Amino acid sequence: MKRLFLFTLLSLFSTTLLAEDIKIGLAGPISGDNAAFGEQLWQGASLAAEAINKDGGIKGKLVKLIQADDACEPKQAVSVANRLVDLDQVDAVIGHFCSSSTIPASNVYAEADILMITPASTNPAVTDRGLSTVLRMCGRDDQQGIAAANFLAKKLAVKKIAIVHDKDTYGKGLADATVTQLGTLGIRPIVYEGLTRGEKDFNALITKIKDKNADALYFGGLHTEAGPLLRQLREQGLDIPFMSGDGIMSEDFVTAAGGPNVVSGVYMTFGKDPRSIESSASIVEAFRAAGYEPEGYTLYAYASLQAIAAAMNASDTFEGSAYAHWLKSHSVDTVLGSKAWDTRGDLTVSDYVIYQWQGDGQYKELEAAT
Ligand code: ALA
Repeated sequence: MKRLFLFTLLSLFSTTLLAEDIKIGLAGPISGDNAAFGEQLWQGASLAAEAINKDGGIKGKLVKLIQADDACEPKQAVSVANRLVDLDQVDAVIGHFCSSSTIPASNVYAEADILMITPASTNPAVTDRGLSTVLRMCGRDDQQGIAAANFLAKKLAVKKIAIVHDKDTYGKGLADATVTQLGTLGIRPIVYEGLTRGEKDFNALITKIKDKNADALYFGGLHTEAGPLLRQLREQGLDIPFMSGDGIMSEDFVTAAGGPNVVSGVYMTFGKDPRSIESSASIVEAFRAAGYEPEGYTLYAYASLQAIAAAMNASDTFEGSAYAHWLKSHSVDTVLGSKAWDTRGDLTVSDYVIYQWQGDGQYKELEAAT
């Protein structure tokens, strides 16, 4: 009886504690082939939460992150989104990662009037559907594709390009955006093919690219397929330029391709590297001191939580659409610099840059995109 009383007291106490927390869902591929990206989001959001809590939290309440693993699978994304809303009763969400997960999950959050900021989903449809609770902390593929196509056409002077995508919302969307811009520059792909996510043998496809005498290969997709595709391309003796987008922005790309010497020379588009922003140096240092290099989307997740905190601190209501509305009419100082959004929930400034992977397995910023 005494134990039961104590148990009830404890549960009441912990419920009270939980009710006092600001609960933020962190949704992305925590497991599966893209877990490296989930780790970037988790590390970024965790350090941001720690910093905010050290500073007194949000309106005096501590931020508590709740992890939700969608494995970049759309059905799982909807299921974890429902769990975050119904069971965990989160106040806002950072995520998801893959556009094909973010798009269906965002409907769940919109229905519950919960703010969702995706640090990484670049497909135009994320914001183009007009949901009032959705924002992104990254660029759009119709900006990224233009940057890639301009570089391929104007700097690399490609004439006979092969385009390959992974048939997914992000990969195909990005490849198509690149093709559209190449078209305006008078270049039509000589190969346009989709591969299947999860496949590992692309030799037949590469033979086709070889037979057509392609002078470059552009890939829309993630590092899991980009790695073996690149390796087999080189194994077949095709030393043509290889370019892709933000989906290969992880050290795991090097492993998936078989080593630094394989990825050396590969081009990719990504936002300007926030690690070079002077005012963000102490945050970057804090990651490094904790033994984590804040690569790729890590700082984008950090910035997403900073934006959520700013909106919550400035609002009297607890509605996601009100937070989103506030963000769309204010700018926020983040680890990525000052950020502002348009009425769709897209960032007002696109900062895509061209990077090139080096022989030491690191990537280097080459130039601002045109
Ligand atoms: N930018 C990638 C996507 O939208 C991660 O899926």
